[in-house]
Amino acid sequence: MFEALERLPADPILGLAAACKADPNPHKVDVTVGVYMDEAGATPVPQAIKLAQQELVGSETTKVYMPQVGDADFNRGMQELMLGADSNALSEARVTSVQAPGGSGALRLCAEVVKIANPDATIWVSDPTWPNHVPLLGATGLKLRSYRYYASATHSVDFEAMLEDLQQVGRGDLVLLHGCCHNPCGADLDQQQWGLIAALAARNGFTPFVDFAYQGLGDGLEADAAGLRQLVAAVPEVLIAGSCSKNLGLYRERTGAALFVSADPDAAIAAQTQATAAARRIYSMPPAHGAILAGRVLTDARLNALWREELEQMCGRINGLRLQLVEKLNAATGEDFGFIAREKGMFSFLGISAEQVKRLREEHSVYMVGSSRMNIAGLRADNMDYFAAAVAKVL
Ligand code: LMR
Repeated sequence: MFEALERLPADPILGLAAACKADPNPHKVDVTVGVYMDEAGATPVPQAIKLAQQELVGSETTKVYMPQVGDADFNRGMQELMLGADSNALSEARVTSVQAPGGSGALRLCAEVVKIANPDATIWVSDPTWPNHVPLLGATGLKLRSYRYYASATHSVDFEAMLEDLQQVGRGDLVLLHGCCHNPCGADLDQQQWGLIAALAARNGFTPFVDFAYQGLGDGLEADAAGLRQLVAAVPEVLIAGSCSKNLGLYRERTGAALFVSADPDAAIAAQTQATAAARRIYSMPPAHGAILAGRVLTDARLNALWREELEQMCGRINGLRLQLVEKLNAATGEDFGFIAREKGMFSFLGISAEQVKRLREEHSVYMVGSSRMNIAGLRADNMDYFAAAVAKVL
């Protein structure tokens, strides 16, 4: 039967990373997939995770299935990390969560629960958004629509247009928001804008659905959660997809959490049972290793302090790279790339055409996504000049 299948093109993000890996050019630059890289170009395992892993190897007595909701320390740790330990929603027992295979798995579990609760719901996604949001959420059968978010001409959030579009969203529908470090544009809402979105959600009754994959890599763990926490304080229901891929370096361990902030404890538990039933239909039970490690790092004081230090360094390095990149690009091109320093997290659009992106790849072995999204963390002292010079040549 497979002969009837059409062969699909490579994934627009992962396929480029594979092409870069195969490129023999010693000067190649990989700014494709959103993974943190250090000054040596490596994506290290955080020391806190290594220590948790060593302890786990010594103490693990079984590989029996995990509970359907996942690891208890992990779930508690993720709830407190994202909502804050002093969250009213937590003390009122209005939050449940389910461990999921990565942030992507968490997004899908949230959408599966929405599909049961309101099959006619529409999820509004930002334009632009992470390209995989569309197939990942759309495959549930829920409708997707987009709201205007980023204006390429000004390299910033077009908040007026965003508000205008979101005025149309009513009760029962959802608005997918990037909690911080917007993927792909890096342009985030400020706290006043988050407040206005929260007030609009409260007034019009739509449900915020927050993709929170980069906490700690914009302005720090607490600052990055401030917008999400405004939403949770303003409206009774919020769906959150949290990921440990980037901030805990657990990419391949597929570690994430789907959170259901609900109007009351009963509704929160109902949502959790729907999520575990959805997981059972798709993959049955959650993977253990990454969540057990994350659970330890999130709840053990010594490991947690070490991890926070490591994460601050990662965040500081990315923000430092942004400043250096602006300087290098401005000097090499004579143009103003200052917007890159105002954006947050791993990604920014360089703001060049698809044809120029192609030339960067074909003529200079500089690999970025076709939209000109680049992963700032893929740059370093020994490739920044080459990168800036290559950009100048294609402009
Ligand atoms: C990215 O956007 O590069 C990451 O979230 C990795 C992925 O799965 O696309």
